[in-house]
Amino acid sequence: MTGSKKRVYIKTFGCQMNVYDSAQMVNLLGEEGYDEVSTAENADLVVLNTCHIREKAAEKVYSDLGRLRQLKEARADKGEAMQIAVAGCVAQAEGAEMQRRAPVVDFVVGPQSYQRLPHMLSGKSDPLATDFAVDEKFEHLAKKRAANGPTAFVTVQEGCDKFCSFCVVPYTRGAEHSRSAEEIIAEVRALVRHGVREVTLLGQNVNAWAAQGPGGEADWGLGELITHLAQIEELARIRYTTSHPRDMDERLIAAHRDIDALMPYLHLPVQAGSDAVLKAMNRGHTMDTYYRLIDTIRAARSDIALSGDFIVGFPGETDADFEATLQAIRNVGYASAYSFKYSRRPGTPGAKRDDQVPEAVKVERLTILQDLLLSQQVAFNEAQIGKTLPVLFDKKGRHEGQICGRSPYLQSVYVQGSASLIGSITDVNITGAGRNALTGNLVQEALAQA
Ligand code: SAH
Ligand code: SF4
Ligand code: F3S
Repeated sequence: MTGSKKRVYIKTFGCQMNVYDSAQMVNLLGEEGYDEVSTAENADLVVLNTCHIREKAAEKVYSDLGRLRQLKEARADKGEAMQIAVAGCVAQAEGAEMQRRAPVVDFVVGPQSYQRLPHMLSGKSDPLATDFAVDEKFEHLAKKRAANGPTAFVTVQEGCDKFCSFCVVPYTRGAEHSRSAEEIIAEVRALVRHGVREVTLLGQNVNAWAAQGPGGEADWGLGELITHLAQIEELARIRYTTSHPRDMDERLIAAHRDIDALMPYLHLPVQAGSDAVLKAMNRGHTMDTYYRLIDTIRAARSDIALSGDFIVGFPGETDADFEATLQAIRNVGYASAYSFKYSRRPGTPGAKRDDQVPEAVKVERLTILQDLLLSQQVAFNEAQIGKTLPVLFDKKGRHEGQICGRSPYLQSVYVQGSASLIGSITDVNITGAGRNALTGNLVQEALAQA
């Protein structure tokens, strides 16, 4: 295709770190003359950025590849070429096996080596890259950031050393690695220059971030990094995700007390509520330490919205263990949560256990757990009715004249208002609440401005 633009379609599965990586791949490929398109149909290159966390997530990739094979054949019949790359955690976990199982795949790149993709496309490097070249990746990407709206993700930490016995992440993302403060600050500043008002700092264990400060200060943790970023004018909001209870240190908790820009929302997965299951999961903390942590966090920021992840049916989980998880949820009270049936992942210690919980029991437990979590989420949302909340508007709503944004607690908020408010933080009187969103009215001054 001499000179003309090529088209890339990227489909993203899994967590926000994959969303960030996909955006970076679009940037990298943009420099090679690719424009992003929204369907695979006429794309010259299709990238599946995959997730390996649960069996279903990984299987989706192969069903997509089946459909893409037909598309690729149909295109070949018309004399058109289509290349297919698999990136992300399935690529990392399966490596060369991927192309054996799905020969339609042209390139395989792991989450720490996708910066090689442009070279692969030009035939200058091996079509398979699954090494953990995390420094090389960030060096390559730092200067190539474009913003897309008033909110943005910034990966600050990669990988995991925790080895929870159910989880593939330490194998697919490699060891814990912190990006340098300088690089992060430069990326955030660049985003802010492009109009970004809110950044979410990302990491599989984001609160394990540790590095020198930009002036060579020793022992910075996420608390110091956030405190520093909060000084950037025009950066109104900072969030971070996902945190591990073990790495929630005093300085980060103090930032929740002292830094206005740090939003009162914390995703702090506990996974299960019984000490026996936590131990079997290798989580490295007990319920007592978790409760004490929650008390300290709430003492620093009383209105903080807590969210978490839960797994039901880990091998050996008894009815009493499950009841302990329900009790923990009642004790803490969550504003939102994600919950899953345990999925047996090849190569993890949990998968080898011979006391797997039957599927029917998992299904039943998940239903009970989700009912409880949903009731808490609805109650938390309803508690906002009558309040005035500052909302950062970031997009149009589905209905005519509607705009949508986020409350400090990460709830979606819909109002009737002018699209000119997108990118601004505006007070909203909350009048309604559902399970997934709030509705309200712009306060009078904002109406006058719009
Ligand atoms: N680093 C984060 C979570 C990363 S994975 C943390 O430690 O909290 C996101 C979530 O997927 C996990 O919190 C867990 O609840 C879920 N998960 C991971 N492996 C799973 C498995 N094998 N089966 C079911 N859920 C799993
Ligand atoms: Fe997985 Fe545990 Fe690491 Fe989270 S802390 S990524 S659940 S191994
Ligand atoms: Fe999935 Fe990999 Fe994220 S396994 S959840 S895409 S780290």
